[in-house]
Amino acid sequence: MIRNTITKSALLATGLMLSVQSLAEPSAEALGYTCAGCHGTNGASTGNAIPSLAGLSEGYLIGAMNAYRDDERSSTIMGRIAKGYTEEQIESMASFFAAQPVHSNINQKYDATKARAGAKLHDKYCSSCHTAGGTDPEDDAGLLSGNSKLFMKYTLADFHDGSRDMPKRMKKKMKKMLKKDPDALGKLVNYYGSGK
Ligand code: HEC
Ligand code: HEC
Repeated sequence: MIRNTITKSALLATGLMLSVQSLAEPSAEALGYTCAGCHGTNGASTGNAIPSLAGLSEGYLIGAMNAYRDDERSSTIMGRIAKGYTEEQIESMASFFAAQPVHSNINQKYDATKARAGAKLHDKYCSSCHTAGGTDPEDDAGLLSGNSKLFMKYTLADFHDGSRDMPKRMKKKMKKMLKKDPDALGKLVNYYGSGK
């Protein structure tokens, strides 16, 4: 359902992209506008399906766009979108979004009991790399806490079924965690969705 809606809005985005690309050397900000329709103003997403880009590290943003472009990371639409930009444009957008303040989407519904359990799991298995609930751009690892809940759900599922590669040490921790608690991912999604 959600993925269908997202695909429909991709058509609109493609139109926007073409109009921007026909200008000579669009600025980083102008390039960023083409992302705003889905990712929110300056990359601060307000919905619960599409991730925020604001405040992610430059390295992470470039890595994500390259992985989408090269079909190394599964996606509903970003694969198509990423193919429309040059390396320079990607770098320029990455520095634009990296310069925005980290955005926490705190208006999502979540299950408080699961969120508390998720906080413990995060501390135990994930916090060595994802410090401060994953809100520290220095981690170079994406935003976890306060990011869109559905996106987090799909992302964790993609890691779990292997359609997105995890760093080796993260994979180990995931495996260990899921062995102990098969419902761990659902708890983490609620913890991150709580924005705490
Ligand atoms: C039509 C809606 C749409 C537009 C326009 C769009 N995105 Fe996305 N973006 C998504 C969706 C949905 C995802 C989740 C992956 C997927 O399913 O494609 C995503 C994921 C991402 C991610 C991964 C974030 C993370 O935390 O790992 C990055 C980076 C990204 N987009 C960058 C951009 C940039 C830069 C632009 C503008 C050039 C852009 N997107 C335009 C919908 C969009
Ligand atoms: C050894 C360090 C390490 C550990 C431990 C680790 N991660 Fe990660 N994580 C990373 C790195 C690095 C990335 C970025 C991978 C990429 O660029 O695709 C990442 C990416 C992610 C993402 C994607 C974020 C986004 O915006 O798309 C999620 C979700 C995530 N990790 C969750 C977890 C969870 C949950 C745990 C604990 C069970 C965990 N990680 C443990 C290093 C780690």
